[in-house]
Amino acid sequence: MNDALSHALEATLARYAARNPTSARLLDEAATAMPGGNTRSVLFHPPFPLAMSRGEGCRLWDEDGHAYLDALGEFTAALYGHSNAHIRAAIADALSAGLNLSSHTAREAALAREIQRRFPGMALLRFANSGTEANLLALAVAKAHTGRGKVVVFEGAYHGGVLTFGGGPSPMNVPHDFVFARYNDLGSVQALLADHGPDVAAILVEPMLGAGGTIPGDPAFLAGLRALATEHGVQLIFDEVMTSRLSFGGRQALLDIAPDLTTAGKYLGGGLSFGVFGGRAEVMARFDPRRPDALAHAGTFNNNVLTMAAGLAGLTQVLTAEALDALNRRGDALRERLNATLADQAVDMQFTGLGSLMTLHATARPVRSPADLAGTDGRAKDLVFFALLERGIFMARRGMIALSLPFGDAECDTLAAAFEDAIRTHRDVLPRR
Ligand SMILES: Cc1ncc(COP(=O)(O)O)c(C=O)c1O
Repeated sequence: MNDALSHALEATLARYAARNPTSARLLDEAATAMPGGNTRSVLFHPPFPLAMSRGEGCRLWDEDGHAYLDALGEFTAALYGHSNAHIRAAIADALSAGLNLSSHTAREAALAREIQRRFPGMALLRFANSGTEANLLALAVAKAHTGRGKVVVFEGAYHGGVLTFGGGPSPMNVPHDFVFARYNDLGSVQALLADHGPDVAAILVEPMLGAGGTIPGDPAFLAGLRALATEHGVQLIFDEVMTSRLSFGGRQALLDIAPDLTTAGKYLGGGLSFGVFGGRAEVMARFDPRRPDALAHAGTFNNNVLTMAAGLAGLTQVLTAEALDALNRRGDALRERLNATLADQAVDMQFTGLGSLMTLHATARPVRSPADLAGTDGRAKDLVFFALLERGIFMARRGMIALSLPFGDAECDTLAAAFEDAIRTHRDVLPRR
C-alpha cells in the first residue's frame, strides 16, 4: 500500500470537491429522481462527476464556470466537436421541414449509401439508435442466418450496456449462450471452436478493445479470426463502434480484413443517437420486407430526421479521408509524446491505443489483453485524472482520450504540457519503473 499516493489523491479530491459545489449539488438533486443521480453508468465517479453546462469546438464549461480542453470527445461520439457549423446547419435545415415524418425519407438512403461507400463490407445495412442495439441486431441476424446458438466473445470486451464482458458475469447482459476467449490469443479461439464449432453462430470482436483499455488487436490475431470463422462457417462480426474512425474504412480497411458483419455508431450519426449494422448481401437481404421469410427489425427512431441529417452532413461535408488521417496521425504523435514524458519521469505507466484513441494504464509492461492489467493500481490513474482536471484537461476517469477534429496541434501542446506538469508534480507518489 502506497500511503503517499493515497494522501496525494485525498488532497486532490478535497480540492476537487471544494472547486465544484454546483456539480455536487446537482447530483444530489438528480438523485431524487434517478438512482445515484445517474442515467449513464460510465459517467459516475466518486466523489461526484462534473456537470457540464456548455460545449464549443473542443472546449467544455462546467456548472461552476471552469473551462476545459475536451480530450474525451464524448467517448468518440463527438468526433466533430461540440458545435460544427455544417452539422448545426444541417440540423436546423432538417428541423425547418418538420420532425417525426412517420415514413421513409430521402435522407436515410443517402446516409446509408455514404456509409456503404466507406465500408464496402456493408453491402446492405440498417440503422438503429445506439451501438448496443447495432450489436444486438448483428447477433440476432448471425443466429438466424446460421441456425446456431453460441457466440464467441472476448474477456474484457465491451459491446454495449447489455453486452459487457469486463469484470466477470453481468446480470444485465442479454442471455445469449456466450463462450469466452482471450483477446489476442488465437489459440483460445481455436480451442473453443474445436469444442463448439458446429454450434457457434458468431465471433463478436472489437478490432481494438475500446472500453477495455484501447488495446489493439494484433493484425495476425484478427486475420486468424477471419480464417477460423470461414473454416467453421461462423459469422465474423467486427464491432467498429469505436474503431471505425481509425481510417476512412475503419480498422478493417487498414488491415484488409473483410468481416461478415460490421457494427458502428457514435460519430456516424453526426453527434446524435445512432447505430448501424450491415454486411454481406445474402445475410442482410433477409431483412427485405418484400420477402415472405423476411426478418423484422422495427425502431421508431431508426431513421429519425435529425440523426439522418447530422450524420449525412458530417460524412459528406466534413469527414474526408484526409481529415481523418490527419487526426489519427496527430493522435499517434500525442501518444508518443505522453509516453515519452512517463518514460523520462521513470513513472511506471503508459498510454496504449491507435490513432486518435488512447488510454492510460498503471503499468509500462506490454498490455495485450485486459488480464495484463490485473493488479495495477487504479489510484495512480485517478490521481492523474484529477490532476489533469485541475489543469483544465477533461478526459475519462478510466484514462481514455479520444481526440476530436477541432483538437489541433495547439491543443495537443496544451494537453502535453499539462500532463508533463501533472506527472512531474506527482512522480514521487506514482508507481516507479
Ligand atoms: C466497441 C463498442 N461497442 C458498442 C458500444 C455501445 O455503443 P452505445 O453506447 O452507442 O450503445 C460502445 C460504446 O462505447 C463501444 O465502445
